[in-house]
Order: sequence, then C-alpha cells, then structure tokens
Amino acid sequence: MSLAVVVIFLIFFQTTSANPTSQSLNLHHPEYYNPMLPPSALSSSKKYEGSSDLVHLRYHMGPVLSSPINIYLIWYGKWTPPQKLLIKDFLLSISANHRAAASPSVSEWWRTVSLYTDQTGANVSRTILVAGEYADHRYSHGAHLTRLSIQQVIGNAVTAAPFPVDHKNGIYLILTSSDVTVQDFCRAVCGFHYFTFPSMVGYTLPYAWVGNSGKQCPEVCAYPFAVPAYMGGGGPGALSPPNGDVGVDGMISVIGHELAELSSNPLVNAWYAGEDPTAPTEIGDLCEGLYGTGGGGGYIGQVMRDGKGKTFNLNGRRGRRFLVQWIWNPALEACAGPNALD
Ligand SMILES: *[C@@H]1O[C@H](CO)[C@@H](O)[C@H](O)[C@H]1NC(C)=O
Repeated sequence: MSLAVVVIFLIFFQTTSANPTSQSLNLHHPEYYNPMLPPSALSSSKKYEGSSDLVHLRYHMGPVLSSPINIYLIWYGKWTPPQKLLIKDFLLSISANHRAAASPSVSEWWRTVSLYTDQTGANVSRTILVAGEYADHRYSHGAHLTRLSIQQVIGNAVTAAPFPVDHKNGIYLILTSSDVTVQDFCRAVCGFHYFTFPSMVGYTLPYAWVGNSGKQCPEVCAYPFAVPAYMGGGGPGALSPPNGDVGVDGMISVIGHELAELSSNPLVNAWYAGEDPTAPTEIGDLCEGLYGTGGGGGYIGQVMRDGKGKTFNLNGRRGRRFLVQWIWNPALEACAGPNALD
C-alpha cells in the first residue's frame, strides 16, 4: 500500500459569510463552522506562524473535561450499521491504547487537545469511551429539529433512562441522519456544541450536535469531499473520502472539531479567543479548513492519499483512515496535527 503525500490546491473562494447577529437567542451556541471559509482574521496567513499576535486565546477560569470522557450517542433518524461503525471507530480511536494505530494517528491528533488545562492544572483527558447509544429511529421530535428540540431529545434520553445523567464525565452527542433538517444547518453551521438548560432537560449537561450533510449540503459541510458546482469545472474537483461515504466522512472532521471544543470549553467559560463570550472563537474554529502543512487561505494543506486515491491525514483503529482538521496548539501558538511535515 503506497502512501503518497499529495499537494492539492483548492481554489479560494468566498461565500456569503455567516453573520453572527443572525442568531440572537442566547440559547444558541453562536458557533459557525464552515470548512470552506478560512478563519476570517487569518485568511491570508499560511500556517499562522508568527501570527499569534492576532490570536488571543485565553483561559477564562472554567472547567475542562479532565476525567475520562463518557460519550452518550444519540442516533437521530435513519442510520445504517456501517455508518454507525465508522463514526464509533473514529471516537474509539481517540484514546491512546495498546493497539495504537500507526502514526499519524487519531490519538496523536487528540494530544493537542490534551494540552489544555484548567486552573487546577488538570489536562483534558486522553481517554474517551462510548458509554451508551440510543437510536431515536422514530424521529421523536420530527424531521426538523431546532436548537431547543435538540435539548428535548437529550432530555428524553435521560428521563426515559436509556442514558444516565452523567454530570461528572458525560457528554451527549446527537447525530442527525441525512434526511433531518436542523435550524441553521448548511446555512450557517455544520455542527455546534453547548450545554443543556435545567429548564429544558433538568440538568446542565455538555452536548454537541453534528448533522449528516450528504443529501443537503455536502459542498458546505462535507468539503473537500464535495465542492460547489461552480468550482467543479476548472478546479481540482472533489477529493475522494477515505471510507467512501461523503456525508459521514465529512461529519468525522466536524465531530472532531466539536469534541475538541467541548472538551476544552464545555461550559463556554474556559478556553476561547475573542472578547465576547456569546461569540467565542474556540480551538477548532482557529484551524477550520486546515488539514496539513502549508494549509491556509482556502488550501487544505498537504495530506495523504492511498493507492485508490482516497484522501486522509490520520490513521485509526482497525485500519481505518480519516481526514480531520487541525487544532490550535497552545504551546506552538499555531494550528497543529500529527501529519505535519516539519
Ligand atoms: C498537560 O498540559 C501541559 C500544558 O499544556 C503540558 O505541558 C503537558 O504535557 C500536558 N500533559 C499531558 C499528560 O498531556
């Protein structure tokens, strides 16, 4: 199996940029994730080296997830067993264990996240378990979810008791299938994280949502495995997804982004940049769209390609491969990943 480092140039283009003021309810986590768009303040910089003066990532005294993290997965809508297996293989590849995947691996990628500490000096945990799964295959809240109905879905899961209320170590990850529409999905977000409200769910629990964009907007949320039609012509076209599923392979990077941020900023009072806590720029946001050395300004950076042309930058368990965005490294003050060439 030959691994070639390929240089893939993606044409920089600007789409209508998400307007933070369009989401005014404070119930919303005002996070925008659109891998097509480089971080606005940094779009012209190459690896953000020497640009750390532009990034004032600060610690705001809140907790990070420092105990082994229990993920409770909610499969909302229709999910096939291979799709579930792919996502669980990614989640289970994060923990470093004795059957470690070859470098560059998913657990090496998470090492950057584990550099973040709280005021007691405790690091983000390097251990992530899938502690429970619940299939909401009857679309309990319909085929369209809002930010509030997402909390109701989580509330059902903890009150009807497929899941415990895991205050100490739990995060709740709700994944919606390709036929489910979600408020702001595709238009402004591909995923978000926040915490539940006692008035909605009975408890304050950190959670994240990520949607399968495969049928709705792969060119937005599964980029670079799909590209907008107007780029297809003269440009390089879409890259081949490592596991053959544009929608779910695209979700993997968004899930990685949200988990990194949820772990370092679970109550949105720990690690973020910017002065406004209602519009924080977090450790995934700073590296959106960057997957390898030299990335920036719309170019994803140097990644790998297998003998069949499938693109990836990380190895996982059971021979899996994934393409996952880089994360801001607080020691290097730059975006970093284990597939860096320097
Ligand atoms: C914990 O974080 C500190 C500060 O970033 C870092 O120096 C140290 O290596 C981290 N420890 C682990 C086990 O990740």
